[in-house]
Parts: sequence; structure tokens; C-alpha cells
Amino acid sequence: MQKKCDRSVQQLRSPVCACCECPLRVSALAYGSLRRLICLMTEPLRPPARQRRTPPIVVALLLQVLGGALTVGTAYLLATVGLMLPPLGAAFTTGVYAALLGRAARLDAWWMVIQLCFAPLVVLVSAASLPPGIWIALFAVLLAVYWSTFRTQVPLYLSSTKVRQALVPLLPPGRFTFMDVGSGVGGVLTDLSAARGDGEYHGIESAPFPWLVSWLRIRIGGHRNCHAHLGSLWNQDLAPYDVVFAYLSPVPMAALWAKVRREMRPGTTFISNSFTVTAAAPDRVVAVDDLHQSRLYIWTQR
Ligand SMILES: C[S@@+](CC[C@H](N)C(=O)[O-])C[C@H]1O[C@@H](n2cnc3c(N)ncnc32)[C@H](O)[C@@H]1O
Repeated sequence: MQKKCDRSVQQLRSPVCACCECPLRVSALAYGSLRRLICLMTEPLRPPARQRRTPPIVVALLLQVLGGALTVGTAYLLATVGLMLPPLGAAFTTGVYAALLGRAARLDAWWMVIQLCFAPLVVLVSAASLPPGIWIALFAVLLAVYWSTFRTQVPLYLSSTKVRQALVPLLPPGRFTFMDVGSGVGGVLTDLSAARGDGEYHGIESAPFPWLVSWLRIRIGGHRNCHAHLGSLWNQDLAPYDVVFAYLSPVPMAALWAKVRREMRPGTTFISNSFTVTAAAPDRVVAVDDLHQSRLYIWTQR
């Protein structure tokens, strides 16, 4: 006979019910997974202050459409004087319009290059007439890797081997806890755990594919002191960690610094690869002689 459980599925915070023979156990497991999935889809991926700003990618796309409309107008005017705009010429004109409009809309400088090249590249690549399956596969791969970049404005790129080596002497003596916010494919965690086995390493990553790679890497490599979590760094409490490491982008740095100040304990260390904050000068800067001449900005919390 199965025991009757007096808790409803909604009351279950954990998918595992204490009552082992509970008939609700299966539905609780499904409920827990569903709840986790919904949280993941809806949790904030951008710092709170920026939630209401239109993402630059949306602005850029709209400006491409506007650039296309202006190109149609230009082609029409040219046609009235007997001039034909070839497809590549039209694409290039669209790029120029989109780049100029992007400048007026105050997109960052690197968006101008994207705006200029986007339409000409579309024309050139479609002329290559590749099988459609390639595009679907490419789209699926890019979606899995850059899943949340649209919202976070932090793409996936990796700290160099030299940066990972430069982090080792910055770790505190004795046992310590380490958190990589935006841990990508987990290379920082596994390299540091190989160099300093006395640390407890955690990483939080919002994009599913990089997270899966890091999870597998940790399991296959037998890094028992490494843990990869799938979720948003904005929901991650930084208080338990002695060292917090970030390699993100200029966009979230001000909000991340505010979070660090709110949550990290005095005496703990915040390290940012390549991106500093305007609110406080770093206590120390370590120059790394890698391809990008990376810099590690280090703040000890007071
Ligand atoms: C530049 S990569 C750095 C990867 C790794 N930390 C390293 O140094 O090699 C930044 C990563 O942060 C992730 N990311 C961006 N915003 C995030 C957020 N709000 N929560 C969790 N991860 C985030 C991105 O998906 C990306 O994989």
C-alpha cells in the first residue's frame, strides 16, 4: 500500500519528496524540471538597470530594414536617369545607409562594421548557393552557443591560456571558494582546479551549449572540486565566494560592480579580465603577455 502524502505538488519546493513511496514523486519531478525550465527562460540575464533599453541587435536590424528602404528609393532615382544598381551595389548601398543610421543612433563603433558588411555578405553568400540544410545546422549551432547573447550583450569568447595561468598566483593561500560568473565552457574552472586542488570552483553560465560542454568536461576530467551551474549570474549570490572572476563585456560591468559591492565580503577578491569599472580604480592590474595583451583588474573588498 502506498502512503498518502498530505502535500500538494505546488507545495513541493524540491522535486524529491521526503515520503519515499509518495505517488506525487513522479509528478513532482516533472513539476520541478518544468519550473526550472520556466525560470531559465524568464530569469533576468541583463543587469536590472538595462532591462528596458532596446537591445542594439534590434536597433541594428531595424536600421538594416530602413537602409534597404532607402536603397530602393536610391535605385528608383538612379533608374529615372537610366542607371541600374546591381545586387552587390544595392547591398553595399544598404550597408552604407545602415552604418550611417547606426552612427546617428549611437550604436557602438564595432556595430558600424557589422552594419556595413551585413547586406553585402548576405548577397555574396547566397550567390554561393549552398544547400539549405547547412544554414539550418549553422543556425542551430549558433543558437545553442550564443543563446542568451541577444539579451546579455556578452558573447562567448575564452580567457587565454596565459590569463588562466596568471590567475593561479592570485588565488588565496589555504582552502578557498572561487566563482566564474559567465563560465563559458568551463576552462577557467578546470585549469585552476588542476593547478590548485585545494580550491572549490563554481561557474554559472546562461547559454545551454557552453554549460553542457563545461558540465561534461568536469565529469569526464574527474574535477570533483568543480561545479558548473546553468543560470543567470544576476540570480547568483556572490557572498559565499573568496574570489569572483568575470570575463564579460563593458555592458554589464557597472551593474556587476554594484552587485560585487553589495554581496562580496570584506577581504575577498574580485578579478575582471579585460573590462574595468569606472566607479572604483582597481587595487592592482596584472598585464598578461597574450595575443590580446589582456589585463586582469583586481579589487580587494573592504
Ligand atoms: C566572454 S565569455 C567568458 C568565458 C569564461 N569565463 C572564460 O573566461 O573563458 C562570457 C560568458 O558569459 C556568459 N554570460 C553572459 N551573461 C550572462 C549571465 N547573465 N549569466 C550567466 N552567464 C552569462 C556568456 O554566455 C558567455 O559564455
